[in-house]
Amino acid sequence: MRWNVAVCGLMGLLAQSATAITMDIDDTQSVKDAAATIAYGMLKYYTGNNTGDTPGNLPDPYYWWEAGAMFGAMVDYWWVTGDTSYVEVTTQAIVHQAGDARDFNPANQSRTSSNDDVGFWTITAMMAAEDAFPDPPPDQPQWLALVQAVFNQMASRWDDLNCGGGLRWAINDFQTGKDYKNSISNGIFFNLGARLARFTGNSSYGEWASRTWDWERSINLITDEYDVKDGAHFDVTTHVCRNDSGPHVWSYNIGVFLQGAAFMYNVSTGAEQETWKTRVDGLLGAVEAKFLTNDTKIIKEWYCESGFSDRGHPYQCNIDQQTFKGYLLRWLSSTSQVAPYTYERINPWIRATAAAAVATCTGPVGAAAPQVDSGGIQPGFKGIDGTACGFKWTQTFDGWAGVGAQMNALSAVMYTLTHKGVGKAAKGPVTTAQGGTSKGDPGAGVTDPASRGGLAALKPITMADRVGAGIVTAILAISIVGGSVFLTI
Ligand SMILES: *[C@@H]1O[C@H](CO)[C@@H](O)[C@H](O)[C@H]1NC(C)=O
Ligand SMILES: *[C@@H]1O[C@H](CO)[C@@H](O)[C@H](O)[C@H]1NC(C)=O
Ligand SMILES: *[C@@H]1O[C@H](CO)[C@@H](O)[C@H](O)[C@H]1NC(C)=O
Ligand SMILES: *[C@@H]1O[C@H](CO)[C@@H](O)[C@H](O)[C@H]1NC(C)=O
Ligand SMILES: *[C@@H]1O[C@H](CO)[C@@H](O)[C@H](O)[C@H]1NC(C)=O
Ligand SMILES: *[C@@H]1O[C@H](CO)[C@@H](O)[C@H](O)[C@H]1NC(C)=O
Repeated sequence: MRWNVAVCGLMGLLAQSATAITMDIDDTQSVKDAAATIAYGMLKYYTGNNTGDTPGNLPDPYYWWEAGAMFGAMVDYWWVTGDTSYVEVTTQAIVHQAGDARDFNPANQSRTSSNDDVGFWTITAMMAAEDAFPDPPPDQPQWLALVQAVFNQMASRWDDLNCGGGLRWAINDFQTGKDYKNSISNGIFFNLGARLARFTGNSSYGEWASRTWDWERSINLITDEYDVKDGAHFDVTTHVCRNDSGPHVWSYNIGVFLQGAAFMYNVSTGAEQETWKTRVDGLLGAVEAKFLTNDTKIIKEWYCESGFSDRGHPYQCNIDQQTFKGYLLRWLSSTSQVAPYTYERINPWIRATAAAAVATCTGPVGAAAPQVDSGGIQPGFKGIDGTACGFKWTQTFDGWAGVGAQMNALSAVMYTLTHKGVGKAAKGPVTTAQGGTSKGDPGAGVTDPASRGGLAALKPITMADRVGAGIVTAILAISIVGGSVFLTI
């Protein structure tokens, strides 16, 4: 997350073309056609499958994690529409970025990627398992095993020493965020725990999810009002947690906890289920209060779409923040499936948002959103002229075309199909017991060099663990001292 500076007057002059996308929200074919046009425009940004390029990467300035999120949208696109056009390119991208160790920490990225970056690719693999997306050949990484590998690594990074628990943003000490515990890293860990619990039926994952929720509450990152704050720094010498999360709250933080809480609701019973229901309802209330326009119930990235002032400039959404509300839509849609009682509440929000979003898809070829942090612009739109989607949905096309705007609008439009039985989505996410085919490996990823001993906390310490922990500590020390050597293997 970076604070940004204002960018003025870049847009404004873009002419609007006549094509636009006409969509009848009650006509399934019309919605599918709209989704296909938006997806086409989005994948025109992708060059990773060209000869000599790297599968899974988006061109600069898009970060690696955003590509991971984009292929997640494409997994669900197949699931809700049944359109197989992009299955191959999506599979190639995910499998390539799994990396040699099959843990979404490929050597090219390991220097810069943090728990949340790795986490977004892992969410994509989780979606592939739950959607019963076609499995890769047996010698290739498998969706479920990839998730388990990253989950085990994250669990081993659980850090009781600072702030009494949680994951740090950074994986390694030389990275930015080594003194920051953020809600998105912990939210992804929570979210994956809840979903693995349902998918595999193994309650250990659910225990980690509960522990993570309790910890987020304990340091007030999830507030009594169910706002989810961004994170808390800690003092690296005293280990004391600061209560320094700013006024900004982001839609993806609340969304990632919402979907996880809905999965916990789905797998629990009795009083425990009531507890999770209270949390789902609380989070939905906070979504409604902050991230829906008051009258029209259109999803909005509240903090950076509201024009609040930041050091004398209006705050604008940066390239990462331009994607967040798309994930909120993803997680709302899923919540309405695994906690079906929420459907009546959520569905009108998705429909209102889809109608507003598609109405902004009128932008021309070449339209490009600003790169708020650097003062540059994103690559120009290369889809069908007159169908580039805007970022703000409370007005006509705002000129902010890019991967984020396309991904958000695609999500809004396609998730109106979730329950309609077009693709395979209507039955909800599968599990190992019911319809799931993805192969797992519960022991994957346990030799994580960045371990903080978290896995050991779950069970009584044995002599074998003591010896193991010593080895892990030694590896950790070596990896920091000889960081570049270790990371460029
Ligand atoms: C890359 O994937 C896109 C989307 O499926 C496709 O249109 C394009 O032809 C592919 N390029 C190559 C070189 O295979
Ligand atoms: C890492 O970078 C090299 C050189 O650009 C490329 O050939 C390789 O495919 C990349 N690997 C991954 C997993 O991205
Ligand atoms: C259950 O999950 C835990 C990881 O939290 C793993 O250590 C254990 O082996 C799993 N058990 C089974 C039976 O798969
Ligand atoms: C954290 O700080 C806010 C004000 O910034 C205050 O309202 C809140 O009570 C504090 N919470 C804790 C747990 O100290
Ligand atoms: C809804 O209205 C309240 C009160 O005017 C305001 O504080 C809030 O920011 C509005 N919500 C959104 C999403 O704009
Ligand atoms: C759990 O999710 C499934 C799949 O969407 C759904 O059919 C089922 O009713 C849910 N269970 C509960 C208790 O809501």
